[in-house]
This record gives sequence, structure tokens and C-alpha cells, in this order.
Amino acid sequence: MTATKGLEGIVAATTSVSSIVDGVLTYRGYDIDDLADNATFEEVVYLLWYGSLPSHSELAQLKAELSASAAVPAPVIDILRLFPANTPTMAVLRTAVSSLALYDPEAEDMSKEANLHKAIRLQAQIPTIIAAFTRLREGNAPVSPKEGASIAENFLYMLTGVDPDPVAVKALDKALVLHADHELNASTFAGRVTVATLSDIYSGVTSAVGALKGPLHGGANEAVMNMLEEIGSIDHIDDYIRGKLDRREKLMGFGHRVYKGGDPRAKHLQKMSYELGKSTGNLKWYDMSVKIEGLVTGLKGLRPNVDFYSASVYTTLGIPRDLFTPIFAISRCSGWTAHILEQYENNRIIRPRAEYVGQADQKYIPVDFR
Ligand code: CMC
Repeated sequence: MTATKGLEGIVAATTSVSSIVDGVLTYRGYDIDDLADNATFEEVVYLLWYGSLPSHSELAQLKAELSASAAVPAPVIDILRLFPANTPTMAVLRTAVSSLALYDPEAEDMSKEANLHKAIRLQAQIPTIIAAFTRLREGNAPVSPKEGASIAENFLYMLTGVDPDPVAVKALDKALVLHADHELNASTFAGRVTVATLSDIYSGVTSAVGALKGPLHGGANEAVMNMLEEIGSIDHIDDYIRGKLDRREKLMGFGHRVYKGGDPRAKHLQKMSYELGKSTGNLKWYDMSVKIEGLVTGLKGLRPNVDFYSASVYTTLGIPRDLFTPIFAISRCSGWTAHILEQYENNRIIRPRAEYVGQADQKYIPVDFR
């Protein structure tokens, strides 16, 4: 038995939710470029869960269900009040998602119908939790969800209590479309492994949130912004990047396990970064990002991934840095739950083997003689 480090190249599941073939990402057979340019996030959620794009009435029904489910049980808001204000929002989200199960009467109901209800609640309530904690840590009361608003509009509204700029809503909605699913990425795999024991959907999504938090996965978008700020200005880029590469340190927002010719999502975020920068009269982060990309690609052949230009997009939208990865979670919840529903449909426990490389033939010695 020989291990493959990081399971590189291992095909660990079949799925009809999304695929990456020859660098092209599709959701249910639709090219991400097509969806990014044309679909709303709610349409994508429907597509991922039900396998086809919704009709007018199907979309209206899903939006109504999401809107009606957006309020979080009061005890969950109460526990958010107890958390230290400086807790990373992803850590808060991990605990809060787990706690949602305690107040859901269908939590242990494993029927397909109940699991779909829970997927709707998770999708609707994750934005509410993130917005509520953001306000509480600043000493403000949470804002109740706005009835009938899209997930993107409602999230921005709940952060401030003020109707958001339609340009910001559109940009966030597109970012949500781009992050919604990504084949067997680390957090989705974590979610599938968890529910393959026939554990509940809340446990699966809690595992997925924990996996997304890491800087090699969803946490990279926050790390990119830290890097841009650390560099400070366009003149310092050259020294900074060359220094990092000389020390063989990772550059956040670059590289990918699957895409070697470039992440198809990055170009959309780059364009958004430019357009938002231009419309706000501040292209500093965009200009720095473009220069960094040129240097890193030229020196190391690494291409930007989805997280690289997300950092400047969210910063230009005025979103606090530690909400970047939680926004990724808002979007990816749709993919996690689609994969979890798919796992339940054709389940087998996921239990691979390990190559043992430890000591052999050890004999027990009583503690007095060690
Ligand atoms: N900066 C510098 N060198 C890199 C980077 C990077 N970002 N990514 C890969 N490399 C190097 C790596 O050191 C290795 O070099 P060598 O062969 O000389 O040892 C080579 O490229 C191959 O990389 P790898 O480590 O085999 O790649 P991996 O498939 O194990 O890891 C990755 C993929 C995305 C974790 C990695 O590229 C990385 O750490 N990137 C930075 C973090 C990041 O941006 N993560 C977001 C990923 S995309 C969205 C998401 O999943 O959330």
C-alpha cells in the first residue's frame, strides 16, 4: 500500500453536481463563464440542488422559501453575543452552524424532503449569522433579514441596516455564482466524508466550514488582502515577491491542485476588481494585483486562483476582511449541500487506507521501567 500525498489525482467519488475537465468548470453541465455572465445566485442554487435551471415559478418558490427561512433561531443569536468580539468570523460560523441543528426539529430526520428543508435553512441562515455577529462585535444590534431580498442584497443589507448600492449587490451576486461549487474541493470532500457515516447535514456543513477556513483553501482570500496591505504600494512589489519566492514561501491566491493553465473564475473577478476600482476611483489594489500576477506568473509560472482578485473586489465593496472567507461559505453552502444530498442518494461510507510508516514490533514496558 503506497499513499498518494494529498490524494493528488485520486478519483474519490462520482458526481453530477460539477466538473473540471481540461480547465473548464461546469455546474451541472453549464460552463461557469455562461453562468457568471447570465445567472443569479438563486438560479445557481436551484441548479445545484435540483439539477436543472428553474422556471419562473420554481425560482419564485425557492426565493420565497429562502427568504422565509432567513431568520436565525433566537438562541443562536444569543450565543453569538457570548463570543469574544475578536474571534475570527469563520470560527464563529463553524460553531453557529453546528448550533443550528439544536433548534431544528428536523435535524435528525434523514428523509430527502427534510434534508432539502435543512439545505434551504442553512443557505438562508448562514448569511444572517455572519451579518449578526459582525454587528454584535461592533456593539450594534443585529438587523432582521429583509423580506423578498436576494441573498446578496439581504447580506449587504443586514450588515448595515441600509439598502445596499445595486452595483454592490450585482457584484456580490456574481462572486457568489463563481464560488458556488467546485467538484471535490477540500471542504466539499470533508462534508461528504462526514455525511457518508449517515451523520446529519448540519454535521456535514460544520465539517465543511472548518475545512474552508484554512489558508490553503477558502482562507486564502483574506491572506491575499493581508499580503497586499503588507506590500503597501506598487513600488514595493518586486522586492516583496522575489523575497518570498527566494525563501520558498507560498504566495497566497496563486496555484491550484487541478488548474495548471489558470483558474477560469479568476478572469471574472479580475474584471470585477477593475470595474469596481474604476467606479470608486481607487484602482490601487487592482493595479497592485495585476503587477503581482505578472511577476509571479513570469517568475514561477503560477497563475492566480479564485481567491486572488476576490480580495480586491471585496475590499473595494467595503467588506471587512474577515468576512471574505465567510462570504465564500455563503456561496459554497449551495455546493456543499448539493454534494451532501447526492452522497445520501448513493451512499457508501468513505473509509480509505493509510500507509503505515511508524515503528514496528514494539513491546509494552511498564511505566516504572521506561
Ligand atoms: N506560492 C508559491 N509556490 C507555490 C504556490 C504558491 N501559491 N503554489 C504552489 N507552489 C509551488 C509549490 O511550492 C511546488 O513547488 P516545488 O515543486 O518546487 O516544491 C509547486 O508549486 C507545486 O505545488 P503543490 O504544492 O504541489 O500544489 P498543491 O496542489 O499541493 O497545492 C495549493 C495547491 C492551492 C494549496 C497551493 O497552490 C497553495 O498553497 N496556494 C496558495 C494558497 C491558495 O491560494 N489557496 C487557494 C486555492 S484555490 C481556491 C480554494 O480552494 O479555496
